[in-house]
Amino acid sequence: MGLSCCSSALLRMGLLLASLALFVSICEARLEASRGVAIPFVFDPKAICDPPCKHAGICIRNNTCFCSKGYEGEVCQYANCYPKCKNGGECLRPGKCRCPPGFGGKYCHKVVCDGGCWNGGDCIAVNGVVKCLCPSSWTGSRCQEALCPQGCRNGGSCVAPGICSCPDGWLGGACHTAVCKRPCLNGGKCVSPDVCRCRPPFSGPRCEERKKLF
Ligand SMILES: *[C@@H]1O[C@H](CO)[C@@H](O)[C@H](O)[C@H]1NC(C)=O
Repeated sequence: MGLSCCSSALLRMGLLLASLALFVSICEARLEASRGVAIPFVFDPKAICDPPCKHAGICIRNNTCFCSKGYEGEVCQYANCYPKCKNGGECLRPGKCRCPPGFGGKYCHKVVCDGGCWNGGDCIAVNGVVKCLCPSSWTGSRCQEALCPQGCRNGGSCVAPGICSCPDGWLGGACHTAVCKRPCLNGGKCVSPDVCRCRPPFSGPRCEERKKLF
């Protein structure tokens, strides 16, 4: 008798605990459901989810989706990326970020310069602006332009650091030396291609004539 009393009391206690657990579970399920990550312990095979669960989520109770790994939201509409997409990247599907311009890599964690940086330049981000950091002898948005500190004169162009490509008739590191195919005579100086500046009393294209003073 005592035993049946106790066992029935235990049973009642057990039922109470069980219903309490169920109540807590339902509350938890509600909480979780509101975040779209429902726990599948109350599964209703006839459940209807409208709108339907996306991304292979399972409808476990009326309008409650159980999301597959990597998705969340009421109807599992949002992908989540771990690690998160950096630099304002958007999570397209688990592990796949769409990166904003200037960023790349799996998690948009890398800075990328469109077209790359040439001649040993480094792609860097400064205050969100992506640009090439060029070595000292190169410049331009992609470090594509060589620098000639000496300057390239007379229409010469800088083709490599410190190296000028000179037009016809000019020579020298800065294209500063004129070339006279036939040399200037009598101490005359070649001042531009095939033009001699003569010392008095000489004149003529090559300073070959001596002016008559008297
Ligand atoms: C789910 O929804 C259907 C149709 O709206 C309804 O008949 C059913 O009773 C609901 N089930 C539960 C567990 O509320």
